Amino acid sequence: MIEKVRCAEKALEFVEDGMILGLGSGSTVREFLKLLAEKAREGTEIVVIPTSFDTHLMAVENGIRIADLNEYPEPDLCIDGADQIDRDFNLIKGGGGALTREKVVASASKEFVVIADKSKLVERLNIPVPVEILPFALGFVRKKIEELGFRLNLRESKGKLRPVISDNGNVIADVDAGGISDPDGLEKKLRIPGVIENGIFSAEMVDVVIIGKRDGAAVLRK
Ligand code: A5P
Repeated sequence: MIEKVRCAEKALEFVEDGMILGLGSGSTVREFLKLLAEKAREGTEIVVIPTSFDTHLMAVENGIRIADLNEYPEPDLCIDGADQIDRDFNLIKGGGGALTREKVVASASKEFVVIADKSKLVERLNIPVPVEILPFALGFVRKKIEELGFRLNLRESKGKLRPVISDNGNVIADVDAGGISDPDGLEKKLRIPGVIENGIFSAEMVDVVIIGKRDGAAVLRK
């Protein structure tokens, strides 16, 4: 937990008065949001564009002003966590099922800063890739993914029988593709009609990665 706090503290240094801030989802972002709320209480003007209902609620609970991309189509900065990060800065995201809005907001923002504890850094991405699927298309998408030689597992959670349903009303599932030697190639293969978004975030999108350690944080740039 302390490592998440350390990277969140460092990310706060990127936030300037008057910024429109895209904000991701997950436990690391929650640590960041607590610190952001303190900064806002001290007088820094911040507007947050949340990427999930969870982040939305937490922002409201902390008195942070929220908006959406209709009001601000180009946020100044996006801060988000990740499930895995490879040495080139390709990411897997969507462990919390918020991948679609996260990819939209990260793409829309002028700068994308990823915050994570050091356990997220890997040589090669190797966990199942989250996908958000239109319920109507599920059978077709499953067939196409199996034809690619992968397995599609509907997401289940402790609090709900499968499938987990996204904030957008769609099915969340995970594609087990084994070790991923070509993240961009896999990202393209997963663009199947009915797959609304997949959780591979290409290194091209990422500007900065902040890795939290027990005693501080390392700021990595490409
Ligand atoms: C949410 O859908 C994800 O993309 C999160 O950003 C990712 O799962 C990281 O979450 P943690 O900070 O909880 O590890």
